Amino acid sequence: MKITDWLVTATGKCQPRPAAKPWDLIRDRYYFHRFLTDITDLLDQAPNELEEWDFLPQIRMQVRQLLTNSYWLKTQQPDANSKTGVSILTLYDEIGYPLTVQNVLSMPGVVSPIHNHGTWGVTVVIKGQEKHTFWRSAGSQHQPFKIEPAEERVFGPGEIVSFMPETIHQVTAVGKTPTLTFQLYGDTQPRSRFEYQPAQATAKAF
Ligand SMILES: [Fe+2]
Repeated sequence: MKITDWLVTATGKCQPRPAAKPWDLIRDRYYFHRFLTDITDLLDQAPNELEEWDFLPQIRMQVRQLLTNSYWLKTQQPDANSKTGVSILTLYDEIGYPLTVQNVLSMPGVVSPIHNHGTWGVTVVIKGQEKHTFWRSAGSQHQPFKIEPAEERVFGPGEIVSFMPETIHQVTAVGKTPTLTFQLYGDTQPRSRFEYQPAQATAKAF
């Protein structure tokens, strides 16, 4: 398992960030509800939702702490979906809950649309491998949604990838076995999440 943390900037640059060592993160009885409480306590310190991404280093650390201590997380696997190739298991939700917390299983070869999330995000590969293609805006007044490819990288088990709200990516499950990822996202800001069509320089709400 690789111990690498990444930050992908709004312009699609994938930068390695300092990762906490697992032996510094060992906790007794680190249940999933404790993790969720740690995250919401952290986010309470942000003056508003738009500045929550400022806490990405601390959020990445909490996600690594969860990965280090939670056997349960690694066993939460949705049944494979043979139609779409992607299945999602929501790990926690209630009315008005601001976070998206889920494990996602993708069959080999499944390719996502090109999209951003309109909020910060932290994902970690539990098993398998996925390739991310990052894009950056090349927009002008006449073509505000024009984008161009920026970088490409394959992530494997133990690698934590964090995103800015504006980060644009496309994810492909690579390798011969299904890919299981844990995904944590903030509250999507209205009218800020898009699916892009680079050939037409257009985007639609996603
Ligand atoms: Fe995504």
